[in-house]
Amino acid sequence: MTLLKPLLGLVLFGLAVPAMADEAEQGRELYREVCATCHGNEMMNPGLAFDLRKFPRDDPERFRNSVLNGKGKGMPAMQSQLSPEDIKALWAYVKSGD
Ligand code: HEC
Repeated sequence: MTLLKPLLGLVLFGLAVPAMADEAEQGRELYREVCATCHGNEMMNPGLAFDLRKFPRDDPERFRNSVLNGKGKGMPAMQSQLSPEDIKALWAYVKSGD
């Protein structure tokens, strides 16, 4: 019985890690298509927009809100183009710091 918990944890961990890597990879592709023009390839900011490598990693709510509704003059609202899954994938990518 005492063995069951760590074993279960191990199995879940083994499932979760590749899934997370996949999500970030998906986000990377989306980023290239939709965000890179302004935010730069591989998040290397060309100086036009917010440097996403510096975005606070502990604030997914701000990320979601800024992407969905836009920010300031330059950041367009993306609500109509992106699904909730897209946003999750993009967040995973941004958090990975490329
Ligand atoms: C047309 C150019 C453009 C595109 C395309 C664009 N952004 Fe932005 N983004 C900006 C600019 C400019 C800012 C700075 C806005 C400000 O603070 O006034 C910004 C800011 C941000 C911020 C920071 C907002 C905050 O809370 O301070 C995030 C996060 C962000 N963009 C994510 C994305 C993501 C993800 C995509 C792709 C889905 C994307 N952007 C596409 C121009 C763009």
